[in-house]
Amino acid sequence: MFWRVRRSMRMHWVRLMTTCLVLSVVMVWWDNGMMNHVKSFSYRLLVNRFGDINRSLTITREQARSFSNFRNLLDHPNKCDDQDVLLLLFVKSSPVNTARREAIRSTWGNETFILDSLGVTVKVVFALGAPSGPNGTDAILQMRLFREDRHHGDLIQQDFRDSFHNLTLKLIMQFHWMHRCCAHARFFMTADDDVFIHMPNLVAYLQGLRDQGVSDFWVGRVHRGAPPKRSQDSKYYVPPDMYQWISYPDYTPGGGYVLSGDVADKIYHATLTLNASLHIDDVFMGICAKAVGVSPQEHLYFAGEGKAPYHLCIYNQMITSHGHVEDLQDLWKAATHPKVKERTSGLLGKLYCTAMKIFLLCRYHLNGYPCLAAFH
Ligand SMILES: *[C@@H]1O[C@H](CO)[C@@H](O)[C@H](O)[C@H]1NC(C)=O
Ligand SMILES: *[C@@H]1O[C@H](CO)[C@@H](O)[C@H](O)[C@H]1NC(C)=O
Ligand SMILES: *[C@@H]1O[C@H](CO)[C@@H](O)[C@H](O)[C@H]1NC(C)=O
Ligand SMILES: *[C@@H]1O[C@H](CO)[C@@H](O)[C@H](O)[C@H]1NC(C)=O
Ligand SMILES: *[C@@H]1O[C@H](CO)[C@@H](O)[C@H](O)[C@H]1NC(C)=O
Repeated sequence: MFWRVRRSMRMHWVRLMTTCLVLSVVMVWWDNGMMNHVKSFSYRLLVNRFGDINRSLTITREQARSFSNFRNLLDHPNKCDDQDVLLLLFVKSSPVNTARREAIRSTWGNETFILDSLGVTVKVVFALGAPSGPNGTDAILQMRLFREDRHHGDLIQQDFRDSFHNLTLKLIMQFHWMHRCCAHARFFMTADDDVFIHMPNLVAYLQGLRDQGVSDFWVGRVHRGAPPKRSQDSKYYVPPDMYQWISYPDYTPGGGYVLSGDVADKIYHATLTLNASLHIDDVFMGICAKAVGVSPQEHLYFAGEGKAPYHLCIYNQMITSHGHVEDLQDLWKAATHPKVKERTSGLLGKLYCTAMKIFLLCRYHLNGYPCLAAFH
């Protein structure tokens, strides 16, 4: 009797060990990307070496100045004067994206509309580097930017080359500009120029936070324990000598995230002594934040890389959605239409929307919002 129990327990053990062995073999041979995530996530949990990262990326102020001492080509130092600014919103744009800027000014980025209908001051400015075209086309493009800026007065531009690999320089420019010209803004946001921002929802959310007096605040979609891309074909390729660890600090993808003013100031100070050669701007933001001891909070209605579904139950709660260019006008009209609030309120509206959101967000993996958002 005893002997049989012992024997069957031993069989269990053998079975368990075999399963583990098979599983680990499968995992090692499985898709490398998945393994990278497992590796970096466990690394993040087990050995927290972010103090090392900070130490090894710290450089002298003189050295760090090379990432920020660019000449201003377009500047508006008085943009925030004498005003209670709720939000300073930087849109990362590039010189050729004139049409995108026009669309933003006439939809979610319309400062007059925000002041008149929402009753708060939001400053929307575009962050640009210098155009770099062949054979003098850059000079023509720069003339066009001067003209555009005379019209709208909302371009902030420095003379580093505007390119994907210089996005970190653009981010540093934003923090330095805020420090110099708009330090009293309650919140700072940075966003891509193909992002849709539901301004009424964002403003209501930020007013709530302001009234609670939040500080030490950083919100967006959060990437945790993401591994650096080590394949040279990737747009996000980072060689080990630029970043040697196998996982990035937590960060919020650059499509759009928000900081409280005090955090923006801390990040500004971090940029004065960190090596900013890592060109992925949102990861660099994560490194700065780690250095000053700030961590991000997740908000399910900040989009990651993807588009939110087109539906009024989504519009009722969305903050950002990524990948909108041609449809910006239509989406703005639909998402801010009075019937959105009407149809989604009340017990019936709420029930309907929960069902609808489960259907829209939980069927398969969309990159817009996670399934969990359906229950919020
Ligand atoms: C911005 O909004 C104001 C007030 O709603 C409106 O008069 C103006 O035409 C809008 N600007 C643009 C560029 O659409
Ligand atoms: C630029 O100019 C050079 C010589 O003037 C010419 O050979 C070249 O094709 C031009 N490049 C472009 C993109 O126009
Ligand atoms: C970044 O900007 C600097 C200054 O204009 C320039 O020298 C450098 O080539 C740019 N880097 C990239 C990758 O475009
Ligand atoms: C910054 O990091 C890069 C590698 O990513 C390195 O080549 C460069 O020397 C570093 N700068 C300083 C001042 O240490
Ligand atoms: C990062 O380095 C800076 C300067 O060396 C230091 O002041 C700061 O406390 C460090 N932060 C962490 C989290 O170790």
